[in-house]
Amino acid sequence: MTNVTDQDRVVIFDTTLRDGEQSPGATMTHAEKLEIAELLDEMGVDIIEAGFPIASEGDFKAVSEIAERSKNSRICGLARANFADIDRCWEAVKHAEKNRIHTFIGTSPLHRAIPNLTQDEMADKIHETVSHARNLCENVQWSPMDATRTEWDYLCRVIEIAIKAGATTINIPDTVGYTAPVESADLIKRLIETVPGADEVVFATHCHNDLGMATANSLAAVAGGARQIECTINGLGERAGNTALEEVVMALRTRNDIMPWYTGIDTTKIMHISRRVATVAGFPVQFNKAIVGKNAFAHESGIHQDGMLKNRENFEIMRPEDIGLSGTSLPLGKHSGRAALRDKLETLGYEVGDNQLKDIFVRFKDLADRKKEVFDDDLIALMSVDDEADDHLQLVSMKVTCGTGGQAESTVELEVDGKDVIATEHGDGPVDATFKAIRAIYPNTARLQLYQVHAVTEGTDAQATVSVRLEEDGMIATGQSANTDTVVASAKAYIHALNRLIMRREKAGPGADTREISYKDLT
Ligand code: KIV
Ligand code: ZN
Repeated sequence: MTNVTDQDRVVIFDTTLRDGEQSPGATMTHAEKLEIAELLDEMGVDIIEAGFPIASEGDFKAVSEIAERSKNSRICGLARANFADIDRCWEAVKHAEKNRIHTFIGTSPLHRAIPNLTQDEMADKIHETVSHARNLCENVQWSPMDATRTEWDYLCRVIEIAIKAGATTINIPDTVGYTAPVESADLIKRLIETVPGADEVVFATHCHNDLGMATANSLAAVAGGARQIECTINGLGERAGNTALEEVVMALRTRNDIMPWYTGIDTTKIMHISRRVATVAGFPVQFNKAIVGKNAFAHESGIHQDGMLKNRENFEIMRPEDIGLSGTSLPLGKHSGRAALRDKLETLGYEVGDNQLKDIFVRFKDLADRKKEVFDDDLIALMSVDDEADDHLQLVSMKVTCGTGGQAESTVELEVDGKDVIATEHGDGPVDATFKAIRAIYPNTARLQLYQVHAVTEGTDAQATVSVRLEEDGMIATGQSANTDTVVASAKAYIHALNRLIMRREKAGPGADTREISYKDLT
């Protein structure tokens, strides 16, 4: 890249922990939020929207702790257009060295009808709330939610009010994923040309992917003059998701010849954070997803393989190393030692302490006994599973018999709070029978929302990773496991999710982490 100026710098605003986490089922634990925030900070994300502090005690604590720990990124919290939300948000983000309050209100005719405000009443509210936020924090972002369906004149009017009241960033959300690239570029360009004071603030773009155009719309907005892209890892987010961080960042990098803007992202960290977000959110990445899908760099067909061998540029526009995928690497085996394991984990992006390595090494040896070659993907699967010692439920043993007619019998032995309990159940296949046996041992009303199996590598001895999502009384918990036996992995993933549900229920005493404000109230 030559002759770049600050004018060409695009700020990356990541909202995985707010807009991404509000996606039904993507709920993360406190520790997982801290881990993801640390990875975002390390990869060079400029601004992390860490949550919605007034939504719950849990959100407040997560935003506060992320704010305290952040090293480089600016930490932002979301607030609706009222003083209580804004004050709570400030209480959480004020701990960060660099902070931001993001306040918003729905400005389109449909969204104005929700609080039943006239245009004038809403304009007054915007002035009051943005001024209030600016009195607390010198960095304030304001969003007219559903901007792309707001009347042009009214949109210009409220943006001008927000700028006058002290907003430093104006975000233009395409809340329902309705816009298209030409319109997106034109809207930002005309706003910058029309609204008084527009040249003193940064314009941001926040796109949803309902029509599959979020990445294109975000890049078009940058062409129109926006200099902040709001996005999430893997495009996580409600409905069809948000703009995917990895897509906009790699598009700007790969086609810098026609999109001469740059970001501060260390792209070699993309793959690792993508895997962690997929695991902790319980949202596996589709195989053919751009940049981070399992097949994004795979070349299966004979013609492609031949072309790749002659010159990789024949079929590859990016190098796998650029996103942190290690090139061809030798598998480990049962004779590999601890140093080799640590070395391999480090190249895959995992930093492990001595105690953690000890535990992983035991699990690695166990896997290597069952599987001749342990590939990178096997290790990633192994690292995604966190069997906690103080779990209420632990799998002791299981025995499954399958019949040709679909009926299966499963005998499961669990340790429940230190006591062994056994149950045998029949079901429509081995997984159904096993889940029934677990429910017989630990009766619960949790509804299975998701059950997903992926083969990690090829071959009949491949590990299966299983994701399970359970819902009970509005609480959601996900569980993952990996094993060369799919039924064992399924049982462990189910138990993992149950343990997390139990943990949440326990916390739901005084100061429970149940959301008082549903994110559904927002969009
Ligand atoms: O999509 C949206 O409009 C939002 C706002 C809260 C910015 O997420
Ligand atoms: Zn959004």
